[in-house]
Amino acid sequence: MLCCRGCHVYSDYSIMKKILVINGPNLNLLGLREPTLYGARNFAALQQFIRECADKLGLHVELMQSNHEGVIVDAIQDAYGKFDGILINPAAYTHTSVAILDALKAVALPTVEVHLTDISTREDFRKFSYVSLYAHKTICGKGFDGYSEGLQYLVNLLSK
Ligand code: DQA
Repeated sequence: MLCCRGCHVYSDYSIMKKILVINGPNLNLLGLREPTLYGARNFAALQQFIRECADKLGLHVELMQSNHEGVIVDAIQDAYGKFDGILINPAAYTHTSVAILDALKAVALPTVEVHLTDISTREDFRKFSYVSLYAHKTICGKGFDGYSEGLQYLVNLLSK
């Protein structure tokens, strides 16, 4: 069934797949932060974009953002048994965090890694991603659209 906004409406919340969307450090400064790289749209616009994509796909999403590695590790741990998958932009922790990698491996939920920019064409230190060692898919360089592609990927994966 579609609602007036063209979104899917599910009468039974329990059958909706639940995805935790995690954004790491400094992504809260989108719009202000290096707009030539990350774009002019702010973090609120990204959150709205993700919610609209989730609505269209019939997904339940919870969004969190933190500048702190341990808070992200805690969120991943808490996702166990509550969520069906994780969409994560670990931001700078992509390139440094064994703790986030280990948390993802521990809960073993289907995970998509997303980056607004193409980290493979930026500074050398951005070319390696710890999270990629676990993620089922990594999407880079597609801006906001990378998040919708990531959600779509999770839908397909979870429907198998
Ligand atoms: C980023 C890329 C990272 O290298 C950087 O530290 C970020 C954002 C991206 O979305 O392109 O904070 O993850």
